[in-house]
Amino acid sequence: MTWWLWIILATATFTVAVALHDITQKHHAILRNFPVVGHLRYLLESAGPELRQYVVADNDEELPFSRDQRRWIYASSKLENPYFGFGTDNDIGAEGYVFLRHAAFPLIDPTPDALIPCTKILGGWRGRAKAFRPPSIINTSAMSFGSLSGPAVEAINRGAALAGCMQNTGEGGISAHHRHGGDLVFQIGTGYFGARDSDGRFSIDTVLQSIGSAPVRAIEIKLSQGAKPGLGGVLPAAKVTREIADARGVPVGVTVHSPSRHTEFGNVDELIEFVERIADATGLPVGVKSAIGEETFWHDLAARMAETGKGPDFVTVDGGEGGTGAAPGTFSDHVALPFRNAFPLVHRAFAEHHLHENVVFFGSGRLGFATDAMVAMSMGVDMINVGREAMLAIGCIQAQRCHTGHCPTGVATQNRWLTRGLDPTDKSVRLGNYIVALHQELRALSHAMGATHPSLVDPERVEFGSGTGGLVKAHTALGVDPGLFDAEHRARLSAMLSETV
Ligand SMILES: Cc1cc2nc3c(=O)[nH]c(=O)nc-3n(C[C@H](O)[C@H](O)[C@H](O)COP(=O)(O)O)c2cc1C
Repeated sequence: MTWWLWIILATATFTVAVALHDITQKHHAILRNFPVVGHLRYLLESAGPELRQYVVADNDEELPFSRDQRRWIYASSKLENPYFGFGTDNDIGAEGYVFLRHAAFPLIDPTPDALIPCTKILGGWRGRAKAFRPPSIINTSAMSFGSLSGPAVEAINRGAALAGCMQNTGEGGISAHHRHGGDLVFQIGTGYFGARDSDGRFSIDTVLQSIGSAPVRAIEIKLSQGAKPGLGGVLPAAKVTREIADARGVPVGVTVHSPSRHTEFGNVDELIEFVERIADATGLPVGVKSAIGEETFWHDLAARMAETGKGPDFVTVDGGEGGTGAAPGTFSDHVALPFRNAFPLVHRAFAEHHLHENVVFFGSGRLGFATDAMVAMSMGVDMINVGREAMLAIGCIQAQRCHTGHCPTGVATQNRWLTRGLDPTDKSVRLGNYIVALHQELRALSHAMGATHPSLVDPERVEFGSGTGGLVKAHTALGVDPGLFDAEHRARLSAMLSETV
């Protein structure tokens, strides 16, 4: 028999076997009713996101990141041409469309490639021993080793070092992949990974050990994140490898649960004491990260901080549109306020107690683009954290498989075959380029809008389309008190820029 007859025979045998399996199985009605061809439906379902992404969707249609947004990150990170030709293809009449009003006589920027430093000193208000001025207002957001692969964490760390920004460790502790030169923000979550004793309880000695061997510049206590507020997490036994177990301080191969709330504090006063305990022991600025639900908490926190003169050096507000490695859809879709509604509420609470110029505000939730960052900063955000945008820069294709362990680009998986495709050295350069490009665009925008720093832009210049042809000031639309951002406030921020630590 010739070789092609063998192939036909093998194909026919395989097809009959699949057909027999499909007809006799009872799990999938489609396969029982449409043997063999029914598999096409599952194939199309699994490849749906990619197909829509490449074939069906418009440039500005997709979420969480549109093709234009992804293209801008890819092009900037590869130092390719990030420009768009022919003019905008956006629907500029849409409700909420952002308009930024440029100055008649834009400023000329003498250093268009320089990083933008924070106007405030992190830890300055509380006089922490290791207070400092962050040299970059753009930093990478909390993403743990475990949710991200080792090479991805390493690429971000090396990229942060190249760009001169900080990498937030996420709640999975500090691993070997975090030690490639990039400065760190060490995150402590409810599981106290990298900060717990052998019984799983918080331990300040373990914190000191963790930060002693790494360039940690600040500590962030995570209350919640936008994609899964009010929920804990589970790291299945199979994922608890030796490396991950070491970073987290947990036994190898045993399922690890992190509860939905901290066990070390249960009210505002205890939270403040916890912050102070860590800051006293480490000398570092200490902040809290949270998605926003209950409003009274923020008023209580600000009030007690004003009364005691103690509390977090920084507050990270994560929008409900934020990302996650894995979470139930209900929580990602519906729990916690979106960033633009969430942040003003927190800022207002601190402003009522005259703390808004002391506390450093970080924001996250799809803010890794100059326009979104500018809108956020016009509401009082001092620093921008980028999570998924950083993932895109190191090769993520928005396949949305983070929760399956099968991320095809090796970014959000522990599968060795998939992670070997990600070269951390090559991808670190891309991360660095993206961070620098975002600074450049934000600088250019600020100067076009008549200010030398995005925090100094007059927020009156930020407007939204009303959807019926009119314009509405962003502050009016978002319920922000414009009085908090007047010329005197901006002059004080400007003066802070020249303060020394
Ligand atoms: C894969 C992945 C892992 C994450 N892990 C953490 C984490 O450990 N701790 C945390 O506070 N947030 C975590 N986040 C949320 C991000 O830090 C960030 O707040 C959120 O994605 C919004 O920023 P973005 O829109 O720039 O991604 C994670 C997000 C992703 C996508």
